Formats: sequence, C-alpha cells, structure tokens
Amino acid sequence: MFAGDTLKGRVALITGGGGGIGLEIARKYGQMGAKIVITGRSQERLDGAVAQMRAESTDVLALQGDVRDYATVESWIAGTVGHFGALDILVNNAAGNFFCPTAQLSPNGWKSVIDIDLNGTFYCCRAAYPALKQSAFGGSIISIITMLAITGWPGAAHAGAAKAGVLSLSRALAVEWGPDNIRVNTISPGPIEDTVGVARLYEETGRSELEKKKTILGRFGKKADIANAAVYLASDLGSYMTGENMVVDGGRWLKYVAAS
Ligand code: COA
Repeated sequence: MFAGDTLKGRVALITGGGGGIGLEIARKYGQMGAKIVITGRSQERLDGAVAQMRAESTDVLALQGDVRDYATVESWIAGTVGHFGALDILVNNAAGNFFCPTAQLSPNGWKSVIDIDLNGTFYCCRAAYPALKQSAFGGSIISIITMLAITGWPGAAHAGAAKAGVLSLSRALAVEWGPDNIRVNTISPGPIEDTVGVARLYEETGRSELEKKKTILGRFGKKADIANAAVYLASDLGSYMTGENMVVDGGRWLKYVAAS
C-alpha cells in the first residue's frame, strides 16, 4: 500500500473523471493527498463523483465539457490553475468506444472516436504543457491506452487506431518535454470489471468468459489495479519512468503472443 501522503501537495486533472477508471484514479489520488480536478460531459455524473470524493475529504473541483473542443480544454487548464494555483499531473482517461465491425462503421463513427481518444488527448497535453512545465514536482502526463493498439483491435479498429496514436504521441512528448522535467507515460489496462468498456465490449456481446480466458490470470482486473499504477507513475516512486507503457492486463497481451 502507498503512504497516505504519496501525492501530497500535487494538483491532478483527470479527464472522464466522473465514473469508471477515471473516478477510481481521482479518488485514489485524493486519498494520497492530491487536489483533484475532474472533467466530463455529464454534470450529473460529475456531481455524484464530487459528493463521493468530498465525503472522503478530498479537495475536488469538477469542470464540465467535451474533450473534443480545444477552447473547453484550455478553460479546464485555466480553471485548474486559477483554483488550485498549479497543475502537476494530467491523466488522459476520457475515451469513447463501441463494438462495430469496420465494414459497417460510418465515417462519423470513426471520427467521433478519433476525436475523443486521440485529438482529445493531444488537446489536453498541448493545453496543459505550460502549467506542467511550471510544476514544482515535475509534470506528469499519463494516458490510458490498451495493448490492443499494438495488435490491432478487431471490432473496435477506431479505438485501437486512436490509442496507437496516443502511444506514439506520448513517446514523442516524453522526448520533447523531458528537458522540461515533464514525464509522459501510458497505462494499458486489460479488461477491467465494472466499467462501461467491459459492459459494451464483452458483456453485451456475450464474450465475458472468453475474454477472461484470454488473460493469463483468468479473470477481469479491478479498477484499483489501474489506479495503483497511476499513483506509481504520477508520484516520486516513478520518478525515473518516462516514455513507458505500463501494461496492467493480467498477462492478456503475452498470452495472445505466446499461446500456440
Ligand atoms: N455502432 C456503430 N456506430 C455507432 C455506435 C455503435 N454502437 N455508436 C455510435 N455510432 C456512430 C453513430 O451512428 C454516429 O455516426 P453516424 O452519424 O454516421 O450515424 C457516430 O458514431 C457518432 O455517434 P453519436 O452518438 O452522435 O456520438 P456522440 O459524440 O454522442 O458519442 C460515442 C460518442 C459514439 C463514442 C459514444 O459511444 C460515447 O459517448 N461514448 C462515451 C463512453 C464510452 O464509450 N465509454 C467506453 C470507453 S472504453
């Protein structure tokens, strides 16, 4: 377990922080002493998340909006720095995805996911850069991707392509912004229980048991598994980690490669 002051004094912005893995990361960061900004499209979800985190004594601000709009993203960064005085950690968690064979995917369906996952991540990184550069702790960017970006993602080629773009972007930024003391890493979760992603991609398509068997550990992961990885990467514990893709997938990618 991490010490309760692991992220003390830091300010973290988590996109898509109103629910799922994003909320779990936001809560864990708060419990480790960070001040939190969560963003998302649904004010109702943000309100619920804020109530939950305030009950846990976290100092949290919610900013509503869509990651696809650069002016909105800029206003989130200004709002964060205006309210808390700094931005030290950016977690690009907001994502859109759905199961759809590519032959049936409309150009607008493709564009929607690329806009959210890839363009949205670029917008956040670009807008956050000046503030992260000023961080007294050294800035940290963490983007949530998937190893299916590497293998290709049949049935979700749109999301796989977007996440592959985020991996490449992250590696470029790790090199470009390392001299500014900004570390840039990605996390690749496997199937995580109790998330919209698993519901849409595996439960609603009747593929849950098959997906569990695809992992070495034979089960879905927990949201806390991803939040713990995100604490490690954002904190001084991971201070020599940059340009890294931390795979937290129960060994799914290895079984994919190694299975005969
Ligand atoms: N299968 C095929 N196409 C789909 C689809 C599905 N299940 N869901 C949406 N689309 C298509 C729509 O038909 C539309 O294309 P069209 O104009 O050619 O008909 C396009 O995608 C945009 O849909 P829309 O609902 O207007 O987009 P949105 O901007 O409101 O929502 C999404 C974005 C589509 C990514 C939506 O799924 C979303 O908001 N997801 C957020 C949550 C999420 O996906 N979480 C999982 C993360 S792993």
